[in-house]
Amino acid sequence: KNILFIASEAVPFIKTGGLADVVGSLPKCFDKKYFDVRVMIPKYLCIKEVLRNEMTYIDHFYMDYLGQSRYVGILQYVYEGITFYFIDNESYFWGEKPYGDWYYDLEKFSFFSQAALSALPVIGWKPDIVHCHDWQTGLIPVYLKDRFRGGEFFRDMKTVMTIHNLKFQGVWDVKTIQRFSGLPDYYFTPDKLEAYKDGNMLKGGLVYADAITTVSSTYAEEIKTPFYGEGLDGLMRARANDLRGIVNGIDYDDFNPETDPYIAQQYNAKNFRKEKAKNKLALQEELGLARDDKKFMIGIVSRLTDQKGLDLIQCVMDEICTDDVQLVVLGTGDDKYENMFRHYDWKYHDRVSAQIYYSEPMSHKIYAACDAFLMPSLFEPCGLSQLMALRYGTVPIVRETGGLKDTVWPYNEYEGTGTGFSFANYNAHEMLNIIRYAKYIYYNKKREWNKIVDRDMAVDFSWNTSAGKYQELYDWLLGY
Ligand code: ADP
Ligand code: GLC
Repeated sequence: KNILFIASEAVPFIKTGGLADVVGSLPKCFDKKYFDVRVMIPKYLCIKEVLRNEMTYIDHFYMDYLGQSRYVGILQYVYEGITFYFIDNESYFWGEKPYGDWYYDLEKFSFFSQAALSALPVIGWKPDIVHCHDWQTGLIPVYLKDRFRGGEFFRDMKTVMTIHNLKFQGVWDVKTIQRFSGLPDYYFTPDKLEAYKDGNMLKGGLVYADAITTVSSTYAEEIKTPFYGEGLDGLMRARANDLRGIVNGIDYDDFNPETDPYIAQQYNAKNFRKEKAKNKLALQEELGLARDDKKFMIGIVSRLTDQKGLDLIQCVMDEICTDDVQLVVLGTGDDKYENMFRHYDWKYHDRVSAQIYYSEPMSHKIYAACDAFLMPSLFEPCGLSQLMALRYGTVPIVRETGGLKDTVWPYNEYEGTGTGFSFANYNAHEMLNIIRYAKYIYYNKKREWNKIVDRDMAVDFSWNTSAGKYQELYDWLLGY
């Protein structure tokens, strides 16, 4: 069975968030005897040159789009056994970042969606299932039910639409979306691509896909409610029978404290008691924090946006950053949060470090060095950072929402169970209390703390289980 992932990003080529981790790492984990899973993304000019140089040209053609004949190049790169296809058109995929300009992105990904499908007969590889990810590919299920269906090649292709983040939907006025998508009037009614009088690309995917998934069971439930539904909760309820939550995994080879080339001291589930803290010392040294391997160190690696609950942290930052805590932040995003963390770095220079940039190696160092990892999200479809923290024996402190609720089990001191600390309400003092409780266990019940770390390093959030669930979904769609 042939499965094609179409998405806007995939590691190792291009990444702005967890979507890239999923699209890049999940395909490797299918049973190769039964599934040939390939991936298609744009060939952005901002993909690292070493990777771009390894791509091989397959073919090109011209496609009518917005009244012009447009070049569509197809390239290929087989990476770790997975075939990645790249759609090339430099007038769309230039720029230092893969996307970021709302209006222009709509045109870019409408073009990409059409080009991606048109490229398939040229490549001569026919997917049984086209698996789309997020709003950038929301038009694809619509096209497959519409004019592309006309051709024999596309007949009977099934579609899956995965929601990684319902917040982003690809919305503009109906006229604009209609022009970019090239779809007739018929599609722009409230039961199809129209939502609240606007055109909505993700909604197209959610109406027309044969199956919908999202990245945790709790989020699959949450998006049926107005608070999390981003205006589409009614549609999510209507399609409840076709909607399932499949929790993300992470690549256990890329994220492995025993072999990680980026960290100062490798360690494993047996020797972390002795070895892990050496990473803390190395990071303190590197970032100019007070050197003390006993100090409770909290890490944050995150996009700095409202989704991630940073206003809660802002509210009680002084209370969090007491003498017995160090806080290390790695992230980029909204100015207000970048500046907030810079300010506290200045104010508490020996115990707060704000690293405002994107760096894969630094993220690994933080996962390895810290004692706890803070992620108090307002909403979180799945979240991968907490899974990375668990893998490195860094105890997550999270809000009970979405995937955070499904992957972090609250510590229970009476039963001696749990893998992290959590709080329920979106409230800064509730968060502060749980941070203080975690700190209390760390300083006063170190053996208990270490048993939490034992359990963290023993849980399995590799792709094994979840890849199996996608396989079941594919089988079901194809009638096996
Ligand atoms: P989201 O996709 O909403 O941003 P996830 O937790 O699913 O959240 O995935 C975030 C991914 O991005 C993780 O792999 C995390 O390590 C990484 N990441 C976020 N910010 C940075 C940064 N500044 N530097 C390096 N990696 C980062
Ligand atoms: C989105 C979500 C995040 C999820 C990721 C991968 O970016 O915000 O929670 O882990 O997609 O599915």
